Amino acid sequence: GGGGAAAALVGALDQGTTSTRFILFDSATGAPVAAHQVTHQQHYPHPGWVEHDPLEILACAEACIDGAVAAGGVDVAAVKAIGITNQRETTVVWDRETGKPLCNAIVWLDTRTRSTCETLKERIDVDRVRELCGLPISTYFSGVKLRWLMDHRPAVKGALDAGTALFGTIDTWLVWNLGGRTTHATDVTNAGRTMLMDIHTLDWNDELIAAVGVPRACLPTIRSCAESYGEMAGTALAGVPISGVVGDQQAALVGQSCLRVGEAKATYGTGCFLIVNTGDTPVFSSRGLLTTPAYKLGPTSPAVYALEGSIAIAGAAISWLKDNLHLIHTAAEVEGLASSVKDAGDVYFVPAFSGLFAPRWRQDARGTIVGLTQYTKAAHIVRATLEAIAFQVMEVLCAVGADLRSSGVVTAAGSGGDDAPASDSDGSFSATKTTSFIREVRVDGGASVNNLLMQMQADLVGAPVLRPVVVETTALGAAFAAGLAVGVFDSAESLREKWRLDRRFEPQISPEERARRVGKWEMAVQRSLGWIE
Ligand code: G3P
Repeated sequence: GGGGAAAALVGALDQGTTSTRFILFDSATGAPVAAHQVTHQQHYPHPGWVEHDPLEILACAEACIDGAVAAGGVDVAAVKAIGITNQRETTVVWDRETGKPLCNAIVWLDTRTRSTCETLKERIDVDRVRELCGLPISTYFSGVKLRWLMDHRPAVKGALDAGTALFGTIDTWLVWNLGGRTTHATDVTNAGRTMLMDIHTLDWNDELIAAVGVPRACLPTIRSCAESYGEMAGTALAGVPISGVVGDQQAALVGQSCLRVGEAKATYGTGCFLIVNTGDTPVFSSRGLLTTPAYKLGPTSPAVYALEGSIAIAGAAISWLKDNLHLIHTAAEVEGLASSVKDAGDVYFVPAFSGLFAPRWRQDARGTIVGLTQYTKAAHIVRATLEAIAFQVMEVLCAVGADLRSSGVVTAAGSGGDDAPASDSDGSFSATKTTSFIREVRVDGGASVNNLLMQMQADLVGAPVLRPVVVETTALGAAFAAGLAVGVFDSAESLREKWRLDRRFEPQISPEERARRVGKWEMAVQRSLGWIE
């Protein structure tokens, strides 16, 4: 110190499903010092389809970087590194010469690849796919989206055949463009969601590539989460190293400093993603969870793995209440309105807009609201929406608990105990049993500021829910990876020390009450299934 030298800053670009933000963190305290956020357009050309314009995403990224630097009056020389974190699985194909996208990006939520998946299931066994890449065959993953484009967009097919097209998820698209179009790379966390990466070797897998039927030449190089990806070619931060790339949900795991086996976080964004750290070997789920790389913090560092429960619709259901039904004007109204009634009035809402993801993986499900009477008011539906988020997270935690128990990882986590498994192997949920294999859940993301939702969550999972002071953990995790690569941070411990508790929510309802509500939720879910042939 001394001499008034500015503290080193580390930036993170967080490109999410509905918005983009750039945040600069003080490396000494982990506190955000400047930020800028913009939203981008969602395109819904057909029911079940969701697209983004890749050029708009890029423009948003640049605007956020410049906006944060200007707003914070930042000394650009103090910015040592930039990390990129992103909505995962969203698929872009572009021309390597002109840089122009060959089509809109197909967003992770998009379900157009249903028949692509059905065809794939005829060619390769689902168990074989899970063994190779840790994933079920689903519309969710980027490899099947690439295949759909080859089958339905002649321009994409032609350019891929001619070798002039590049494939990437949003991280790859941003690295390539922000870094001056020299680096075509992705990190293990994003590559792990293509359905094309071998979960053990962390390299592209020929058997999967052949089964999905995509050309290997268009795929980016897979790197670790913390190493050089080039440097910024433009914006106010031109010349700053891009030295971190992590998919947003894994970045949040890092930002929550869930770096030990058994530590879990839930991020309430567009969707909700529960991730539990399982250490240095992949654990395979028999209950609908994904096996995914959690992080690899340097080219020679070991990969750490995780089990993930991906829920497609969480905050998006609140946006739907606002934008499509006009039941609320702002997301901030939700807590007050939901609290104005003592319960949801026996209304249950299953927001299966993109089918149901983990742990059920039912592409045939669609959104369902049941239990309506003339007594039902907007407040009941709003409250049922919050409960739906909490129920879905509960289901995932039940599956995590049971998977950890049967894998033996739970012993290593030092939790466990005498409780019976929370979920039966067929994936049905045992309502009276709790999820106590996970001792606590750290929460973050937009809806985690909703105290009512967090209390519901603690009640339904039967475990404490811990909210940190900094809920921008996704950006923090990516900034940490970038800072680690350039030596601003020296170890993961330096991150752990910066985690500060804002509020702890303890479960308050009885097991009988929990069982009653979970039973009703299960009935509602059954009614949502099979809507699409
Ligand atoms: O897998 C999709 C996920 O990465 C999207 O995250 O925060 O945009 O809902 P979010």
